[in-house]
Amino acid sequence: MVTPMIVCHGGAGHSAKDQPGVDAAADAGWGILSTGGSALDAVLAAVEIMENDPVLNAGTGGRKRADGSVQLDAAVATSDGKLGSIMAIEDTPNPVHVAAGLLNEPYHILVGQGARDWADQQGYPKAKVEGSDSPSGNDTVGSVAIDENGLMAVATSTGGCTGRPRGRVGDTPLWGPGFWIDEEVALAATGIGEDITIKMLCHRVAIQTGTLQQRLEYGISLFDPSIEVGLIGITAKGEALGLANTGLPLAIRSVNQ
Ligand code: GLY
Repeated sequence: MVTPMIVCHGGAGHSAKDQPGVDAAADAGWGILSTGGSALDAVLAAVEIMENDPVLNAGTGGRKRADGSVQLDAAVATSDGKLGSIMAIEDTPNPVHVAAGLLNEPYHILVGQGARDWADQQGYPKAKVEGSDSPSGNDTVGSVAIDENGLMAVATSTGGCTGRPRGRVGDTPLWGPGFWIDEEVALAATGIGEDITIKMLCHRVAIQTGTLQQRLEYGISLFDPSIEVGLIGITAKGEALGLANTGLPLAIRSVNQ
C-alpha cells in the first residue's frame, strides 16, 4: 500500500494571513485520503474549500478583470490519463467541479460561454461571483495528492491576475505550464501566468532528474526574482513539497505531518 499525501497552496504572493483556508483545505483532503478515499476526491474537496475562501484568488475570491467581470479558470487531471479544463467561465462559484465533470467526457477543455452552457446542461450550480478588487494576491490555488492505491491527482483554480482583459487565460488551466501529471510526478504552478506559460514550467520540471526539491528549485530558478512564482509537487516514490520565490501559504498532510 502506498502512503497517501496531499499538498495544498493558496497562491504565490499571498502571506501567512491567508494560511487558514489552505490548512482547512489540506485537512479536508487528508480526511478523505486517510480513510481510504481517492486522490481525486481529496484534491477536489481541498480546492473547493479554497474556492470558497474570499481571500484566495479562485472561485468566490476571484480577482476582477479590467472590465469588472470575474472569469475563472480551473483544471483537474489524474495520473491514469484523465483531464478536465475550464477557461474564462462566469457565474460559477466552484469551477473545479465543472472541470472534474469533463474527466470522463470525449472532450476535455471548454471555454467561456460554452463552458457555462455545458455546466447548465449538467446541473452545476450557477450564481453570480462577486469577486475581489484586491490588487494583491494575484494568484491561484492548487492541490496535488496521492492515495493508498498510488493514483495521483492535481487540481488548480484561479481568477487570473487582477485587471487583465476579459478572455485572457493564464497558466492555471493549461497542462504543461500550469500543471503536469504522469505516473511519476504531479505538479501545480502558481505565479504570473504569462511568464509561467512562456517557460512551459511544470513540464520542464517534470522532465528533470533529481530529487523533488532539486526539480522544484530548478523550476523557480528559471525566473527573475522579481516575477512571483511557486510550485507544489508529489512523486510516486513518496516526496511532497512546495517552494516559491515569494510568500506562499502551503500545507502538507501525510502520516508524518
Ligand atoms: N497563475 C494564474 C494566472 O496567471 O492566471
